[in-house]
Amino acid sequence: MKRYFIHTFGCQMNVNDSLRMGEALASIQYAPTPTPDDADLIILNTCSIREKAEDKMLSALGRYRTVKVSRGALLGVGGCVAQQEKDKLLAKVPYVDFVFGPDNIAKLPEIIGRVTGERERVVETAWVDTEEYVFPRADPETSRGKVSEFVTVMKGCDNVCSFCVVPHTRGREVSRPFPDVLQEVAGLARVGVREVTLIGQNVNSYRGGISFAQLLLRCAQVPGILRVRFTTSHPHDLSDELIDAFRVEPKITPHFHLPVQSGSDRILKPMRRDYTVEQYLERLEKLRAARPGIAVTTDIIVGFPGETEEDFALTLSLTERVRYENQFSFIYSPRPKTGAALKEKDWGAVPHEVKIERLERLQKLQRTISGKLMSEAKGQEVEVLVEGRSKTDPLKRFGRTPENRTVNFDGDAPAGALALVKVERTTPNALYGAQVRMLELPEVGALALET
Ligand code: SAH
Ligand code: SF4
Ligand code: F3S
Repeated sequence: MKRYFIHTFGCQMNVNDSLRMGEALASIQYAPTPTPDDADLIILNTCSIREKAEDKMLSALGRYRTVKVSRGALLGVGGCVAQQEKDKLLAKVPYVDFVFGPDNIAKLPEIIGRVTGERERVVETAWVDTEEYVFPRADPETSRGKVSEFVTVMKGCDNVCSFCVVPHTRGREVSRPFPDVLQEVAGLARVGVREVTLIGQNVNSYRGGISFAQLLLRCAQVPGILRVRFTTSHPHDLSDELIDAFRVEPKITPHFHLPVQSGSDRILKPMRRDYTVEQYLERLEKLRAARPGIAVTTDIIVGFPGETEEDFALTLSLTERVRYENQFSFIYSPRPKTGAALKEKDWGAVPHEVKIERLERLQKLQRTISGKLMSEAKGQEVEVLVEGRSKTDPLKRFGRTPENRTVNFDGDAPAGALALVKVERTTPNALYGAQVRMLELPEVGALALET
C-alpha cells in the first residue's frame, strides 16, 4: 500500500475536506502516514483568508520539496489557494504535480491516475455551484473512536463582505439536502459520535429543503446525539426561528459564534456587513433572553482601511459591553480581487504598527474578560462531554462543557460519557477540576472509546 500525508491549513471546512480526501485516497489503496518523510503522496490543503496563511503554505511547500526529491513523492495542492491560483500555481512552483479546488475532491483518484500514468501535471479547479453538486458523503468508519465530529451542511458564500476572499475561493452557496445531512448524523451516532457541529461559511442561510433551525432540531432528535453545534453564522440572517430553537431544544448547545468584525457602523458599512451595531446587539439580546447564560464568541478585524482610533475605541467598548466568552481577532490583510483591497488606498491603509498595537490592546482586554467569565465558574459543577485524555497532562481527562469551555479534570469517565465536574481552578482558556460523578446518558450506554 502507498502512503499519503495531508497538511491542512485554515478553517473547519478544510479540516473536513481533508478527511474526505483521505477517504477518496483509501479507494485507490493509499493509507495515511503521520509523517511526511515516508509519504508517497503529500497534499497541502491550503487557506488564503489572510496573507500569513498563504506564506505558511509556501514555506511548507519548500519543506516538502526535499521529500519529493529524496523519495519521488507526488506533491499536490488543494483548498482555497489552489482554487484562486489555478494553473498559475503550477507555473510558480515547478515541483508541484497537481492542483485541485475544493469542489474536486471526489476526482482525486482520477487526478492521481493521470499524474502517475500519463505523467502530466494536472489542474482541476472547475466549480460545481448548482444544486447538482454532490456533497462527498463521510464514511462513518473514519469517525469510529471520536466523540465529536463536523458535518458539512453547505458550501460557498453568497455574501459580499468587502475584505473576504471566501466567495472567490468557494463560489456560490449550495446547501446539502437535509435527508443527506440527517443520514450522515445518524451514521456518526451509530459509531459512537455524541456531538455534531454543522459547518458551512454561512450556515444560517441554509436552504436544503427545511430551514436551518429545523435542521438543528432534527439533528438533535437523532438517537445517540447529545449535543448539536454549528458554525459560522452571519448576524444578518440570524432569524427569530433560530433563536426559538435555542429556547426549545436543550441539545442545541448554549454557544453562539457570531462574528461582528467591528464595533463601528462607519466601518461595518464599507465592510458590507449589512447590519449596524445596534441591530447586532438587538439580536444578541433576544438570543440571551431565549437561552440565559449562552456563551457568545466573535471574530474581529482591526485596521480595516479607514479605521480611526475612534472607530477602534467603539470595538473596545462593544467587546466590554457584550462580554464575549472569546474573540478571534485578526489584523486586516488585503486579499486579491476583494473590494476593500481595491479601495484600500482611497479609504486609507492603516499603518502596520498601528494595526499591531490595536490588536494587542483588544486581545489584552479580551483576555481579561475571558479570565473573569471563566473564574465565575469556580466552585460550580459543570457538565462535561468527555473526549479522552488531556493533551497537556495525560493523567487527567479532557472534555468540554455545553458552552464549549475546555475542561481538564481528575476522574475516570471514559470518552463519550457525560461527567459532572466540580471546577477548582480556572484560566482564561480552560477549567480545571475533579469528577463528581458520571451522568446517565439519555438513550445510550456510555461507550468506552478510549480508557
Ligand atoms: N464565514 C465566516 C467567516 C469566515 S473567515 C463569517 O462570515 O463569519 C473567518 C474570519 O476571518 C472572519 O470572520 C474575519 O474576521 C477574518 N477575515 C476574513 N477576511 C480577512 C482579511 N482579509 N483580513 C483579516 N481577517 C479576515
Ligand atoms: Fe467571507 Fe462574509 Fe462570506 Fe463570511 S459571510 S465567508 S466573511 S464573505
Ligand atoms: Fe481559509 Fe478557505 Fe476556510 S480561505 S478560512 S480555508 S474557506
